Amino acid sequence: MEKNIYLVGSGLTPFGEWWGESLRDLMEEAIAAALKSSHLNATEIDMVIVANMLAEVTNNQSGLGALASSLLPHHPPALRVESACGSGALALHTACAFLESKRAKTVLVLGVEKMTDASVDAVSQALMGAADSELDAPSGLTFPGIFGLITRRYMHEFGLTREQLSVVSAVHHRNAHENPFAQFRQKLTPEDVTASPLVSDPLRLFDCSPISDGAAACILSTIHKSPLRIAASQMTSDTLSITERPTIVSFKATREAMSRALKESDIDRSDIKVVETHDCFSIASVINMEDLGFAKQGEGIRIYEDIYAGRTPLFLNNSGGLKACGHPVAATGIKQLIEVGKYLKDTSTQWGLAHNFGGAAASCGIHIMENTNA
Ligand code: COA
Repeated sequence: MEKNIYLVGSGLTPFGEWWGESLRDLMEEAIAAALKSSHLNATEIDMVIVANMLAEVTNNQSGLGALASSLLPHHPPALRVESACGSGALALHTACAFLESKRAKTVLVLGVEKMTDASVDAVSQALMGAADSELDAPSGLTFPGIFGLITRRYMHEFGLTREQLSVVSAVHHRNAHENPFAQFRQKLTPEDVTASPLVSDPLRLFDCSPISDGAAACILSTIHKSPLRIAASQMTSDTLSITERPTIVSFKATREAMSRALKESDIDRSDIKVVETHDCFSIASVINMEDLGFAKQGEGIRIYEDIYAGRTPLFLNNSGGLKACGHPVAATGIKQLIEVGKYLKDTSTQWGLAHNFGGAAASCGIHIMENTNA
């Protein structure tokens, strides 16, 4: 890919339940923060890409490209992209494509979701749009149900116990404790997770990412520089329905995206020390560690056990992940890249990775970032 795409500014709203703020308010707040951090004038933005999944259902709003553009004084061209919970990574990937083609030089990438104005039932049903409406939805499944099935199968194949799985959310909540933008900042023990209310057997409340409001914005440029360079941007797809896959305990879209991203950035997996991964449900994180190649199949939980015990230097989901930081679905992929950039700078580390997927990894986006000052 183009070697000179830089992250020159970024901004987040806190993630949470914001009844007093509209979709537009969230967009405005994130854009203003990104522009402020970039020190650019708004008129230097020549393209806007907006990621959003649910606004028609949760906010009675479409036309998000024009809405975002109208928040800038010169109304630059704008488009909206959607790939369910992977919409944020798709927006970043689209921005990279515009920059590489030289159609744009400085792109504002915005992810926004305002989910809490609708009932949990309505949101759950809308989120099922990320599964197959003919093959999955008629059974009555929701996403906690799909990942409950995946968890049960994984436990059957690899012997993962309920108590072991609980360590994942304990790590995410411990990390979120330090993150002022996180939705749930309370520390949890693995025992708290195991004792939380049952949602979809064997998944419990504290295994599930929440329903959230929030926005994340970043500015990517080929003409303005920063120490943070995008070294790889890859998107992959798999079947929309889990019923059409040979296995549900490993995600092909992640494996392929990772392999391509490593090739594109020309680094080894072991160079990557900072990772934000897509933990929509705690089992997803365990599987992701394996599909990203940080653990052998069946051993993903060991990474979390090591982190919980302070035995590994991997910076994993420092934001608190989707579970504790919150998951306003289309904002998540952009928040992940922002968090990776922050940790690369704070820890003077060279390489980091953001891993975001849509549905049950029906689509996957991976971005690798280099801190050129490290
Ligand atoms: N983690 C921690 N606490 C949570 C939580 C979560 N995931 N979800 C809700 N809570 C808290 C709420 O803040 C609330 O606390 P309070 O009583 O102190 O105010 C309490 O638990 C009950 O919240 P409520 O909104 O009634 O929960 P719910 O039962 O309606 O919804 C889930 C809980 C897990 C079903 C819902 O968050 C959900 O569907 N999550 C998955 C979303 C999803 O599928 N995303 C896409 C992934 S692919």
